[in-house]
Amino acid sequence: MTAIHADPGRFQLFDQKPATPHMAAEVVRGLKKPQKAIPPKYFYDSVGSRLFDEITRLPEYYLTRAETAILKANRAAIAAHVGSGRCMLEYGSGSSVKVRVLLEACRPAAYVPVDISKEHLTTSARAVFQDHPWLAVYPVCADYTGPFELPPPVAALPRLCFFPGSSIGNFDPPAAEAFLRNTAEILDTGACLIVGVDTKKDAGTLLRAYNDAAGVTARFNRNALLHVNTVLGANFDPNGFAHRATYNAEAGRIEMYLDARQDQVVRVNGETIEIRRGEALHTENSYKYAPEEFVAKAERAGFDCVSLWQDPQHHFMVLLLRAR
Ligand code: AVJ
Repeated sequence: MTAIHADPGRFQLFDQKPATPHMAAEVVRGLKKPQKAIPPKYFYDSVGSRLFDEITRLPEYYLTRAETAILKANRAAIAAHVGSGRCMLEYGSGSSVKVRVLLEACRPAAYVPVDISKEHLTTSARAVFQDHPWLAVYPVCADYTGPFELPPPVAALPRLCFFPGSSIGNFDPPAAEAFLRNTAEILDTGACLIVGVDTKKDAGTLLRAYNDAAGVTARFNRNALLHVNTVLGANFDPNGFAHRATYNAEAGRIEMYLDARQDQVVRVNGETIEIRRGEALHTENSYKYAPEEFVAKAERAGFDCVSLWQDPQHHFMVLLLRAR
């Protein structure tokens, strides 16, 4: 605490979190679709962010371990390419664990973690600040899938964007490309993007990662309902829903659902939603890409691919891209 208050100019939260009415409108719109849906960003309240951290440590969830190994093995090459003194943005920073692998090697002038979950963001960003006294840390609480503003102190710095975890897999492929194009424009020519992407692989490995034996992913999935209950005063019964994750090989994506165990009538923000027994609420798509598929997408979106690294098992990839 003291370090932050003694030097408030180098640590500051910029809160641009979308307001509750925005969430209400989005959630109600999703629940009125023929295929009822809740956007995956609503997994992440403080409980959901903690459950996601638990997922990253599960034996079945290979993604985080593979990505961390790739970053550790290649941090010197990354640092050599990006140079020091940049503003390092991170989209969906969560606990800010992976970025620590890069900070000492890349020596950015500022770190700007962007996350929708304010408490978790603040705690994690503060910890990074305390562990790296040479680094300015400006957390931004925002939904990075929409427009948000950069903290004024970093506006003039050259940028480096870090988008790990295969969070880009939550966008459908055209939206992922649009997101990359938009990022290329925000970043300016010569700016870098380090993006982590899960690869297409055997269905067994993928399905185990999203149907863990300890049931953490099931709790994470149901937490979207608890989050909606808390923020919007809805009355979902999370126990009335079963977690389901399937692999759609044709589309190249894991799909997550909550299946209603019985008929239910739910009140959400003054609206009545009827859900029949067996009906599914869609909560997430998680797209997987072949390396050449993702490189082609990045190139169409305005990036050159500088490097592509994989773990020995080729379960995951990290790309270093440069905006044209
Ligand atoms: C954070 C979107 C990358 O898709 O693997 C983990 C979220 N969902 N287990 C993923 C998630 C279920 C995760 N992303």
